[in-house]
Amino acid sequence: MLWKEKYKIGVDLIDQQHQELFRRVTDFIVTVRGQGDWEERLAKVKETLAFMQEYVVTHFADEEAYQAGINYPGLAAHQQIHDNFKREIDEYAKKFAATGFDEDLVQSFGGKLMAWLINHVAREDQRIGKFVRQEVR
Ligand SMILES: [Fe+2]
Repeated sequence: MLWKEKYKIGVDLIDQQHQELFRRVTDFIVTVRGQGDWEERLAKVKETLAFMQEYVVTHFADEEAYQAGINYPGLAAHQQIHDNFKREIDEYAKKFAATGFDEDLVQSFGGKLMAWLINHVAREDQRIGKFVRQEVR
C-alpha cells in the first residue's frame, strides 16, 4: 500500500476517500504487474477502471464542495486539475474499448494513476489542509 499518513489533510471524509483511492490503485498495480493468466487479471483491470471512473467523480465533487464551503481561494484552479484528470481517465477508457485492453496500455494506465494520485494528494491537496489550519487559528 503506497498510502502514507503524511498524505492526510486533516479532513476525515477526504482523507478516507484518498485512502480508498490509494488502496484501489495499489491493488490494481499489484494485479497488473503480477503473475498468472492475463485474461483473469483483466477482470480486475476492468473492475478498477469502472470503479475509478465512478469514484473519482464522486470524490472530486465532494472535495470541491468542501473547498467551496471553506471559501478556498484555489478552488477554480483545483477544479481544472480535476477536470483534466477525469478527461484523461475517459480517454484511457476509450482507448481500451478500441484496442481491447492492450497489456502495454494497461501498464501505462496503472503508472499514470499512481503517479497522478501521489502527486496530487501529496502536493495539491495538501494546500487545502494548510488553508484550513490557518483559518481555524
Ligand atoms: Fe484534489
